Amino acid sequence: MEGHKEPLRVRVEGSHTNCSLSEMDDFHLTRALEKPRQLKIERKRSLDERSMSELSNGYVRQDSFLDMAHSPGSRSILDTPLSVRNSFEPHPIIAEAWEALRRSMVFFRGQPVGTIAAYDHASEEVLNYDQVFVRDFVPSALAFLMNGEPDIVKNFLLKTLQLQGWEKRVDRFKLGEGVMPASFKVLHDPVRKTDTIVADFGESAIGRVAPVDSGFWWIILLRAYTKSTGDLTLSESPECQKGMRLILSLCLSEGFDTFPTLLCADGCSMVDRRMGVYGYPIEIQALFFMSLRCALSMLKPDEEGREFIERIVKRLHALSFHMRNYFWLDFQQLNDIYRYKTEEYSHTAVNKFNVMPDSIPEWVFDFMPLRGGYFVGNVSPARMDFRWFSLGNCVSILSSLATPDQSMAIMDLLEHRWEELVGEMPLKICYPCIEGHEWRIVTGCDPKNTRWSYHNGGSWPVLLWTLTAACIKTGRPQIARRAIDLIESRIHRDCWPEYYDGKQGRYVGKQARKYQTWSIAGYLVAKMMLEDPSHIGMISLEDKQMKPVIKRSASWTC
Ligand code: GLC
Repeated sequence: MEGHKEPLRVRVEGSHTNCSLSEMDDFHLTRALEKPRQLKIERKRSLDERSMSELSNGYVRQDSFLDMAHSPGSRSILDTPLSVRNSFEPHPIIAEAWEALRRSMVFFRGQPVGTIAAYDHASEEVLNYDQVFVRDFVPSALAFLMNGEPDIVKNFLLKTLQLQGWEKRVDRFKLGEGVMPASFKVLHDPVRKTDTIVADFGESAIGRVAPVDSGFWWIILLRAYTKSTGDLTLSESPECQKGMRLILSLCLSEGFDTFPTLLCADGCSMVDRRMGVYGYPIEIQALFFMSLRCALSMLKPDEEGREFIERIVKRLHALSFHMRNYFWLDFQQLNDIYRYKTEEYSHTAVNKFNVMPDSIPEWVFDFMPLRGGYFVGNVSPARMDFRWFSLGNCVSILSSLATPDQSMAIMDLLEHRWEELVGEMPLKICYPCIEGHEWRIVTGCDPKNTRWSYHNGGSWPVLLWTLTAACIKTGRPQIARRAIDLIESRIHRDCWPEYYDGKQGRYVGKQARKYQTWSIAGYLVAKMMLEDPSHIGMISLEDKQMKPVIKRSASWTC
């Protein structure tokens, strides 16, 4: 495999600063990813599809949209069609949301370095919600970038990079050099007038699990910053190049793996408690894929970087094949699994992981629409977790881990199963919940994760931004609009809770923090992206080999 041929550079064209990052994003992948398996997804040519050409003219020009989305500095109001501009009156809660977001800012020696997880004064139990979580800061960072305030993002990236350099231990065991913190906290000493930082790499976290997602989010955010500002000096700095390589060393190392997916412990990402997400959870695989692609666009092909570039290209090739084939579930695939033979030996096996058809849960037969599909929660030997996880599926769309057909199918499923997956408050973290005996076994009787609560089928407003981004990418902004309307109808009255409970997501979560920062930032990011879809270039990656098919959905006219 070949490495980079040319170093990253800034090219100035007219009034736009075009960073070559956008070209590099797709350069390798075109060769790296093999032709996607053509999925047979029946889609009737509906009125909605026919009017796609109108959509292309009125909303986003299909050819130019993605290029536009990739160019930093191109989000001029002139690029936003009138129809869109006119339809978005500023909602009265936007100002309130910005105020709350700014209130959550954390300063280190006078410089903003992040936002705390929740600014909930009413809550007696602070726990670690007064810390800056890496994953929680992502929507805050995107909001600041979209608002033309990149400094806090740069400071955050540099501060967490410093923390990565710390020696990390749990008891007597030393963690890998590349591990990024789950969270950090700034301690102000008013007497000595000094600021110090404490960080948590999993050694304080409930369950003592290192956050696998932090490093991935860090790389994704570094690219978002670079894309949005056109400033290549940060990502090209020796410190950032090293930081990326250290993260990649953790997940590209060779070992006993027989699959290209990343093996990890329960609770190592957004779902940071025991919830049966150990093994090869979709969220981690999608973030892994996305960060590999982001790193590929930023790594310099120098002596140290070249080897990583080669390893990334190979891994992407294998990972996309594995995910698109073995994690994908639609009506046809479900029927095939239902009819699987077991105990097949040798490479001719169809049922490669020896999944027992009897282990397919009842609910999935009714849940699966004729049109639509999704990446299941987990695939490992004799174990398929059929649960739907929102974040993993949305990130799969954004990173182009999902083929265009798969992306459309995921959106179709969301529409078909709106009641179940969105309900009254976007968006279910996973579906369905687990209860009874299964809950006891899988969660270890976790009282916070009771059925339809928190990580166990709870509804998380933060997920609105990932849904909105996926909607824009697939050309279905109307779905996002619908979800935003739901949020706007009550979230400010409920004081921006962390999560909602219940089958429909109707109740403010049992132990939900109020003024949860990522609920606030997620809303702002969703609004800004809908207003100006070119923002999506910061967090979306195209695969030019797979021509994006932007189609209208059946619900377009809703
Ligand atoms: C909860 C969430 C986790 C989040 C943290 C801070 O632990 O599960 O994803 O990062 O709160 O908001």
